[in-house]
Parts: sequence; structure tokens; C-alpha cells
Amino acid sequence: MTQSLRVVIATPLSDENVALLRRLEPRLDVRHEPELMAPATADWMVRLDRDPALQSRYEEYLDGGEAFFGVPDQSGTALRAAIERNPELRWVHTIPAGGGAQVKAAKLDDAALERVAFTTSAGVHAQPLAEFALFGVLAGTKQLGRLRVAQIRHEWAGRQPMGLNAETRVAVVGLGAIGRRTAELLSGLGMTVIGVHRREVDAPGVSRIEPVENLGAVLGEVDAVVLALPGTEQTAGMLSRSALEAAKPGITVVNVGRGTTVDEPALIELLQSGHVGSAVLDVTATEPLPASSPLWDLPNVVIAPHTAAISEHEPRLITELFAENARRLLDGEPQLNVVNTHEFY
Ligand SMILES: NC(=O)c1ccc[n+]([C@@H]2O[C@H](COP(=O)([O-])OP(=O)(O)OC[C@H]3O[C@@H](n4cnc5c(N)ncnc54)[C@H](OP(=O)(O)O)[C@@H]3O)[C@@H](O)[C@H]2O)c1
Repeated sequence: MTQSLRVVIATPLSDENVALLRRLEPRLDVRHEPELMAPATADWMVRLDRDPALQSRYEEYLDGGEAFFGVPDQSGTALRAAIERNPELRWVHTIPAGGGAQVKAAKLDDAALERVAFTTSAGVHAQPLAEFALFGVLAGTKQLGRLRVAQIRHEWAGRQPMGLNAETRVAVVGLGAIGRRTAELLSGLGMTVIGVHRREVDAPGVSRIEPVENLGAVLGEVDAVVLALPGTEQTAGMLSRSALEAAKPGITVVNVGRGTTVDEPALIELLQSGHVGSAVLDVTATEPLPASSPLWDLPNVVIAPHTAAISEHEPRLITELFAENARRLLDGEPQLNVVNTHEFY
């Protein structure tokens, strides 16, 4: 058991949530100098206009922490510099659920990775992204793209069938917090959910789990696929051209994980040919999605600009998660959402 922990709020957070953190874990010595950062917003803005004097004040402020709430300036370079300067730092909580990427970007040596624990906000976004995934699957089965096109043309199109939930089969790829919650919501509406994962896990609502190697075969039997994977070297291009070509014609592709997990040129081609019926994407391979991308103009595609996880509750939920992890650290218990520093997720 440790008596106290000096926490530096390294990224914008409202006074209200700082007060909540102090209330939830009174053993924390929470340092908060909001003028060193951008105004607190829901999207964790970075302050880019510090003059040298303000920058050195920010660095001095960071040097006083044993733990950081957020990666300084959401930047791997700033994180690395802060770790090198501050030998007392022992824990950094990254704001994104996929915060492993920020840790990877810091290019830390083994000694630093050993000394400092890294955690992410995985789980906080599970409910909003599962809801968006549900929307995406329904947009496909209820044919949102076709309806929109006909409506814009003032066209009373003929009788065309829609999918029925009880007859709909969905593959959920990646059974972490988001994938598991998605499976629960989909199965709650009567859909059959097949999990695709690299190991057996307990996932309520999933009828069976298939190994990742069987992705192509699974796609041949489902009406929709939801990707809820982190962006790592191992997951890059997992929804490959061959997997997409093996998919059931008309399949709906929903991605709420990372855009790099999809062979995007192949997806575009197969959307254009109609083999893939529709796509609902919160994430794309390059973000922001370039204005020249054909994805913007395809009537059977819905793009959300990496915003489906955002809700007004997000900063409070991350604050509560941080408080729980601080309690665990102080009580000598294992923390939640520890970054895997081999695969960086
Ligand atoms: N759209 C957004 O705004 C948004 C918001 C939050 C998160 N995300 C993305 O979504 C990802 C998942 O979030 P989460 O909260 O569900 O995270 P999580 O609970 O950490 O789940 C990640 C899952 O991915 C699995 N995985 C990792 N590498 C894999 C591989 N090579 N093959 C198969 N499965 C693999 C993990 O497997 P194990 O169970 O074996 O560890 C784990 O179950 C995040 O990493 C982030 O990149 C996007």
C-alpha cells in the first residue's frame, strides 16, 4: 500500500472532472494547471501555441508527476521527453482506448517500458461504439443507401425486400470490450453473432468463436461484419481482399476499430461492383479521409469522421476509470487496461 500519488493532469480536463477525481480518490495529490493546456473540450485538444517560456513551465509541471492523466500533448515525442526527464514517473494513462499507439510512437527503451506502467481508456467507448455498430448493421440490412438514393430522386421504388433481424447473421471480429458489447446488442435484437477472435473468450451473445484464420470462410456465411480491432502490425489488412472476395454477396462492412485493419482499395472496388453491399465506417486507413477518396461519393457508404465514440459523458467516464486505476496502484492491485508493450494495444 502506498500513501499518496502525485498526479499531473497532462491533457485538458474540466475543473468539474478534476474535482471528481480528487473526490473519488482522496489519496491523490492532483496537480492541475489548465492555463498550460488548451481549453478542456470533449476531444482532448492539444495546445500548440505555447511560447518557449510557457513550454518550459509545462515541462516543469510534468516533471512534478509520479503519474500522468493523459499523454502530454497526445504526442509520442513529448511523452518520451517527459519520461527521460522525470525518473519518478511510474504510470501514464492514455486517453484513447487505442492508446498503445501513442506509447509505441514514444519509441521507449526496455528500461522505460519496465519503469512506467501504461494504461488506456479501453472499455469507455464500448457502449457508444456498440450502438454505432448496431446502427451500421441495421443501415445495411434495412438498406439505408438505397432508400436515400430513391428519396433524393423522389422515386417510389418498387417492392424490395429488407433483412429480418432473426434471419441476420453477423461476424464480430475482435472480442475486446467493444466487440463483446456489440455482440450483446446484436444478439439482443435476435441476430446470430459469430465471434472471430484469436483465442476463446467469454462473450455473451456470441453463438460460436472462430479463429482469425477462418475469417474468409465466416464472411461467406454472414450478412454483416463488424470490425472492433486495434491498429497493430498484426491486425493490419486483416479484412483482406481475399476475405472480402470470399464474403457473401451484399455483405455490410462496419468498422469501429481502426481503418488500417481493412484493405481499403479492395473494399472500395468491391463496394463499386456491388459485391459488398454497404459500408459504415467510423475509421478509415488515412484520417482525415482525403477529399479525393471514392468512399465519400459511394451511395452505399456512411462515413463518420472518427466521432462515433464521442459523447458528453466520455471525460467523466475516463476520469472514473483513472480513479479506479489509481486506487488499484495505491493498493498494490493489478491495474485495468494495461498496454501490451509487445503489440502496443
Ligand atoms: N472509433 C473510435 O473512436 C474508437 C474508440 C475506442 C477504441 N477504438 C479502437 O478499437 C480497438 C478496440 O477497442 P476495445 O475497447 O475493444 O479494446 P480492448 O478491450 O483492448 O480489445 C482489443 C481486442 O483486440 C484483440 N486483438 C488484438 N490484436 C489482435 C489480433 N492480432 N488478432 C485478433 N484480435 C486481436 C484483443 O485480443 P486479446 O483479447 O487477446 O487481448 C482484444 O480482445 C481499440 O484498440 C482502438 O484502436 C476506436
